[in-house]
Amino acid sequence: MGQNIRDRLLSLLIQYQPQFVSGEEISRELGCSRAAVWKHIEELRQEGYEIEARPRSGYRLLYRPDRVAPEEIAYHLHTKKFGREIRYQEVVASTQILAHQWAREGAVEGSLVVAEEQTEGRGRLGRSWYSPPRSGVWMSLILRPPILLTEASHLTLLASLGVKQGIERVTGLPIQIKWPNDLLVHGKKICGILTELRGEQDQIHYVILGMGINVNTPEKNWPEELRAIATSLAIELGGPVHRASLIAAILEELEEVYDHYLQSGFSKIKAKWEQSSGIIGKQIVARTPQGVITGIAEHLNDQGALIIRTDRGLVSVHSADVSLK
Ligand code: BTN
Repeated sequence: MGQNIRDRLLSLLIQYQPQFVSGEEISRELGCSRAAVWKHIEELRQEGYEIEARPRSGYRLLYRPDRVAPEEIAYHLHTKKFGREIRYQEVVASTQILAHQWAREGAVEGSLVVAEEQTEGRGRLGRSWYSPPRSGVWMSLILRPPILLTEASHLTLLASLGVKQGIERVTGLPIQIKWPNDLLVHGKKICGILTELRGEQDQIHYVILGMGINVNTPEKNWPEELRAIATSLAIELGGPVHRASLIAAILEELEEVYDHYLQSGFSKIKAKWEQSSGIIGKQIVARTPQGVITGIAEHLNDQGALIIRTDRGLVSVHSADVSLK
């Protein structure tokens, strides 16, 4: 209940910003005493919000810390479904774990798990994902697409397109997609996407799209082994990016691409993906679980597999770590 009043108080202050809202109005709207309002104002101040209190005028929000809490995201969000239900925590092992639990409990499509920090962030191919506090976007989106299991790789590809468009809209940086779904800026990794799903026979129960974006991590904080291959939006732009607005933009772009896919199929997404990728027509090395393949990246097939022209003819690759040769 306390948490609930706090969230509603914050929404009210945001709604009125930069104006004052009177203590009387707040207690009426929230159905609590003036003393309770004061207690929650103090709580928000402890969290880093700057709130001016002026006799006879009431309270006014002056500064909002960069948090990815639901009320901060909601303020910027214009979607129908994506991000309309949010579970938020300061620290989690992995947002993927919470999203799986929530999906099993029946979460609706578009439900989002987001955290300020992950202690056991997971990446593709069993790797770990560096997720330091309050400097990135670590989130997992629950989808329930009415498609076949064999079509699931479409989701990975459309996700990379949606996230790319969201980041470009907010930052103006040119983002390249590396198959299947790494996003790069100037050749270094800015975002990774992890698609996990549950299904049986050929039916999908749910899909979890895990997205990790390096937003405000300063260069000095990167572990040595990542510095050469990864970067953050702040490093590339020379200044911080507001994470809640970024999340809202990504969810909007993702929802649009996803709706388009469900209505019209994969072909347009495939064409757009091929255009945006940095690898089509280039000499690449694909490290697959079955071995290393080198050749020219030709195109995607209808299942979303990458077709590579090798010395021995065309080869289709479903899962690999791909780099330019
Ligand atoms: C990759 O290896 O490139 C994929 C990285 C995916 C990281 C994100 S961060 C949010 C979500 N939770 C996780 O534990 N992993 C994904």
